[in-house]
Amino acid sequence: MSLAELTASALEHLEAAIQAHSPATFSSSFGLEDMVILDLVSRHRLPVEVFMLDTGRLHAETLALVDQARDRYGVTVRVLYPDAAALEAFVTTQGPNAFYRSIDLRKSCCGIRKIEPLRRALAGKGLWITGLRRGQAVTRESVPFLELDEGHGIWKLSPLADWSADDVRAYVEAHDVPINALHAQGYPSIGCAPCTRAVEPHEHERAGRWWWEQPEQRECGLHFTPDGRLVRASAQPAGETV
Ligand code: ADX
Ligand code: SF4
Repeated sequence: MSLAELTASALEHLEAAIQAHSPATFSSSFGLEDMVILDLVSRHRLPVEVFMLDTGRLHAETLALVDQARDRYGVTVRVLYPDAAALEAFVTTQGPNAFYRSIDLRKSCCGIRKIEPLRRALAGKGLWITGLRRGQAVTRESVPFLELDEGHGIWKLSPLADWSADDVRAYVEAHDVPINALHAQGYPSIGCAPCTRAVEPHEHERAGRWWWEQPEQRECGLHFTPDGRLVRASAQPAGETV
């Protein structure tokens, strides 16, 4: 499909899901895919709340992009922080960088800094919009456009599910979308600073995320269990095209 066709298709998915399942909220990590979605929802004035999970360990470059996005799109970004008491107890007992010591500690850190705040962000909403793509990881190969996420009790839309990394880049260039300065320094995929490294040109786009773990474990639990299993229990509703 051409970029124009992909863009029209993503917009159709957004409009249909928003109409059917409002209120809609969009989780943005300010990665490339999320910037494409932000550009689309702003350009077409779609009724969508935008939120970010500020884990407290994000790169300065990511936070700078939040300001750029606010200026460029005039968007209000709802920010959710981890529960202070839970985080204080975890860091006090385990230290600031416990995630490197074991997968269990890494899951606990993601649980406190991302998963619990995500639950709060989704409460009371009907639709959750994300920037997941099938090409991103072995754990994401079968991501549908629209699905019922029973774990969170919400409809979940990934309007760029069928886009390639090149499609995303082409959109960003065509529309002069602001992006994270780290992308130019070898970071195709960006999460928390201590858990993200730059990748070599021959490496996979998510090779720098939790690089010390196996590929099938490299999920934080936002979308899949941290060992890579799907949380969702029911797939595409009848009548939707995958
Ligand atoms: S992650 O699960 O490995 O961290 P990834 O960085 O690929 O996810 O991003 C996939 C989608 O998860 C993004 O498009 C976005 O919807 C959501 N997401 C990831 N991190 C955040 C964050 N810090 N705040 C809000 N949404 C996020
Ligand atoms: Fe903690 Fe790393 Fe998960 Fe961020 S990505 S919440 S720092 S374990």
